[in-house]
Amino acid sequence: MALINENYLKLQAGYLFPEIGRRVNEFIEANPDKKVIKMGIGDVTQPLVPSVVKAFHEGVDEMAKGESFKGYGPEQGYAFLREAIAKNSYQDKGIDISADEIFVSDGSKCDTGNIQEIFGDDNKIAICDPVYPVYADTTVMSGKTGVCQSNGYYDGIIYMPCTEANGFIPELPTESPDLIFLCYPNNPTGTVASKEELKKWVDFAIENKSIILYDAAYEAFITEDGIPHSIYEIEGAKKVAIEFRSFSKTAGFTGTRCATTVIPEELVAYDTEGKSHSVKTLWNRRQSTKFNGVSYPVQKAAAATYSEEGKKEVAEVIAYYLENAKMMRASLTEIGYTVFGGVNAPYVWVKTKNNASSWDFFDKVLNEANVVGTPGSGFGPAGEGYFRFSAFADRENVLEAMERIKNLS
Ligand code: MLT
Repeated sequence: MALINENYLKLQAGYLFPEIGRRVNEFIEANPDKKVIKMGIGDVTQPLVPSVVKAFHEGVDEMAKGESFKGYGPEQGYAFLREAIAKNSYQDKGIDISADEIFVSDGSKCDTGNIQEIFGDDNKIAICDPVYPVYADTTVMSGKTGVCQSNGYYDGIIYMPCTEANGFIPELPTESPDLIFLCYPNNPTGTVASKEELKKWVDFAIENKSIILYDAAYEAFITEDGIPHSIYEIEGAKKVAIEFRSFSKTAGFTGTRCATTVIPEELVAYDTEGKSHSVKTLWNRRQSTKFNGVSYPVQKAAAATYSEEGKKEVAEVIAYYLENAKMMRASLTEIGYTVFGGVNAPYVWVKTKNNASSWDFFDKVLNEANVVGTPGSGFGPAGEGYFRFSAFADRENVLEAMERIKNLS
């Protein structure tokens, strides 16, 4: 008799974004004449930039010729890409990360979930609330939690509420977590953490021998000076942090798939006898067993984002999305919404009016304005009463969506 992984039965609902997709499809089927504008899932809309497309084509052409054809590549990623990431994203910014601490993968969503596999089931995980749902769901799937309580919290997870009152930056927990998920610029609230705030977390992790799983997927959207782009800008972080970065939002790779996980040489975790082990070695073992790397043309395309031309082109696309966010902030503020984020991130986090619940607001915006956003409560109980708009839409759609929301009853 085949037995299931019963941890899956603890999961509360379907994964958030397919659930939204299901409701939107139902609406479209019932209202085929309506033009629905999607600002829900953070999926990019602008095409790959010319330098990336050129490199992608070149990669395919190389695969088409006997003399340059490539079979399996290195599971950790091709050296040319690992070196380009280490140099451009870290070393040129004064951060000491080397190419062999970089693992190229097919996405930060996969890596932030898969990484849990190399840590024992008895680890206590701390996550923010609200939060990118992948962290909580994969923690449940990996067997590190109990059941879900009526308040929406799973037993065994340390939840750290991020509210307007604390500026959406969690307070240090009173319990000692073993693994701590942090994401800045933040998804979903669009807010950022200063160096001083991150320093508190690094010091806390050092003191508790915990590891910070730092999701920096949106770092390219930081516009304000002094905001850290990497956890490794903080002294001591290499001893206690893994960083996830992605080409998805930075360079339009949501459909192309390429990301980076950084595991410093000195990062260790412990066995039950207290003996330390290299986390990088364990992850390398996991990846070489279960992953055969990202395709060569995709890695070539990703490397092109670091060429002079590529950097300029990618920066223009990011500026376009940030301009969308700015317009959204202005329109929503003008009509009386309290708005957060959208300055250093592609997400605008809005408080609903008249204490409407997140899902009621979702239904209203969908039914009356035919605009899709993401209900804040889908990111966790503390997101109740909030709503997230993604700035990744076309400009024309952003303007139209804001106009329609202005006219909501
Ligand atoms: C989001 O909308 O929160 C993200 O785009 C989803 C993802 O990156 O998987």
